[in-house]
Amino acid sequence: MAITYIDQVEAEDYKGKVIIVRFDFNVPLAKDGSGKITDTTRIDRTLETINYLLEQEPKKLILMSHLGRPKGQVNKSFSLEPVAVYLSEVLERDVTLSETCLDSGIKTLLSLKDNDIILLENVRFHAEETDNDSNFAEALASYADYYVLDAFGTAHRKHASTYGIMNFFPRSHCLAGFLMKKEIEALTKIVEKPGKPFVSIVGGAKVSDKIKIIEKLMISSDKLLIGGAMAYPFLKALGREIGKSLCADEDVQLAKAILSKDSGKKIELPIDHLASKSFGGPKEVVQDAAIPADLMGLDIGEKTISNYQNIIKSAKTVLWNGPMGLFENSDYAVGTLSIARTLAELDAFTVIGGGDSVSAVVQSGLADKMSHVSTGGGASLEFLENGTLPAIKALRFGIN
Ligand code: 3PG
Repeated sequence: MAITYIDQVEAEDYKGKVIIVRFDFNVPLAKDGSGKITDTTRIDRTLETINYLLEQEPKKLILMSHLGRPKGQVNKSFSLEPVAVYLSEVLERDVTLSETCLDSGIKTLLSLKDNDIILLENVRFHAEETDNDSNFAEALASYADYYVLDAFGTAHRKHASTYGIMNFFPRSHCLAGFLMKKEIEALTKIVEKPGKPFVSIVGGAKVSDKIKIIEKLMISSDKLLIGGAMAYPFLKALGREIGKSLCADEDVQLAKAILSKDSGKKIELPIDHLASKSFGGPKEVVQDAAIPADLMGLDIGEKTISNYQNIIKSAKTVLWNGPMGLFENSDYAVGTLSIARTLAELDAFTVIGGGDSVSAVVQSGLADKMSHVSTGGGASLEFLENGTLPAIKALRFGIN
């Protein structure tokens, strides 16, 4: 069954109605407690949906989200106040933050003429949110006539505001926003019919976190380039020395199993490294795939970069998930940034999925040069594994 998107509802149907929208405003905040948002991408990517809905002249627009994991307790450091402030700046309108998402004052706010945008305070201040509590979902639903889901980054969670709430709206009033549409279209293309050659790049720390996606990509990709700490268990599984590099025994076993299935020799591993005696310490160049006993690998080396670049240059589709090294440290960001620049110049369908590779692309100012940068971390991985997510399924088929 098809998803109904917000632009498939007649403008008159929205007029004078209350629309509640679930976004993923789970944005990183400065560690100094100033409440400064350090990357506004997740909010910026929702503005198209917000502006479109405002143009439909609803009575009110209610926005809701979680921020962090406050474990069902009110905790001011997880308040959505910085989001309310940022939204009112970029939208040039008042955005009223409710005291809690179950505030009795919300009904009063709804009856006021002004304040056409209400942001509900963090839904995870209530344990009922993550418990997908039915009464809680019903209370949130009671504010509005239409429910819109635009929280792709949280659509893998069966929570009250992302999932259970749909039980309390007619099917035709459960809609998806424009960000959901872009995410679903781009990631579906990767899952169902990537243009060939299809090259996947997987980095990050733990093989066990990405085992399912690696197995899946080994089937659909023509080449699978491995980087970051992810590479060391693979090298060890091949009997290479990896020195003091990060490597869990469990991951070596998983890497062995994956390599044994790689009959098409699709997997490419680093053939040289940047390494150091300590984590983030002064860098040393290792010209070989083997890493000396007193060093730990922290980035891919020059020869690996050029090998990976040559492979990427022939691709029609590229999926990238996970950095190539300890990119937070500029000494070890070379591999990650080189891959980002190669993708930026490529005439191909390029998709960046997952938290850290997204940060790398955003920080390097190259996000606009990619075909799609996913706002999902766990959600995009789960989508790539299963071709859908629980909340997307609910939008399509309802909840049963
Ligand atoms: C994310 O950042 O991946 C989403 O906002 C989901 O957050 P969660 O993992 O705390 O559910």
